[in-house]
Amino acid sequence: MRILNFGSLNIDNVYAVDHFIRPGETMSSLGMEVFCGGKGLNQSIAMARAGAQVWHAGAVGRNDGKKLLELLAESGVNTDFVRKTDGVSGHTIIQVDKNGQNCILLFGGANQEITPEQVDETLAHFEEGDILLLQNEINGLAGLIKKAAEKGMKIYLNPSPVTGELLELPLELVDCFILNEIEGADICGQEAKEEEIPQLLHEKYPRAVILLTLGSRGCIYYDGENRYEQPAFCVEAVDTTAAGDTFTGYFIASAVKGNSVPDALLKAAKAAAITVMGKGAAPSIPWDKQVEEARL
Ligand code: RIB
Repeated sequence: MRILNFGSLNIDNVYAVDHFIRPGETMSSLGMEVFCGGKGLNQSIAMARAGAQVWHAGAVGRNDGKKLLELLAESGVNTDFVRKTDGVSGHTIIQVDKNGQNCILLFGGANQEITPEQVDETLAHFEEGDILLLQNEINGLAGLIKKAAEKGMKIYLNPSPVTGELLELPLELVDCFILNEIEGADICGQEAKEEEIPQLLHEKYPRAVILLTLGSRGCIYYDGENRYEQPAFCVEAVDTTAAGDTFTGYFIASAVKGNSVPDALLKAAKAAAITVMGKGAAPSIPWDKQVEEARL
């Protein structure tokens, strides 16, 4: 079983702030750093650092995407299916406040230049039973989901961010949703307590396993028969960026390696806790050895 992650690659411009900027306010930041990020790139790096064999597909700008590709390669991710475009790479402006919370302004750039030809050429290298992981930061998701499902690939979707277009996708073809409580409520389309969301989502999409992340409150897994809860590790947050991506990547890698669901959830929660203790998206994602050795 191989893993293809068709997803975003971003350059994250991260500003340390006293508080998130308010409408009409001009405010000096307390510092600025540039990191590699993007939900797609972060999740590929997490899976590879967790020990899985990962192929990343997507697009970067010819002139500014080199370091994104280098970091993927250094982490052990195959980048043969990342295309270089004449435009600019995706990028973000991220504010991180004193509590480590963030807010993210996204510019899609090359992430929005995925062509049907690239989708077909990439999927041709994969087969029934392989995993396709997606987030909602690239274009072309409808074609990707339909074509991968026709091939019998297993579709894992981190539906982030939830948009009107995302709700129009053939979500009934998704085999596993990994999402937070806000995304879960949006996709349920009804008011629900967070502990009810996994069951409601499973009723709406009966083929799908639901993995609901709840930040510092942990996560809930539900597959229609089994329900597991995993508390989050209590650590001091420096920067929560990419915690969800680390959780997603570690859970998938751990499950693919044949670990039980409770073991995969535990590993993912531990890896995500380590991520929030470091600055930046991709740089804060731990390697498997760090997760194994960490005493939290
Ligand atoms: O999930 C965190 C990521 O979201 C950041 O790295 C940023 O690039 C955005 O895609």
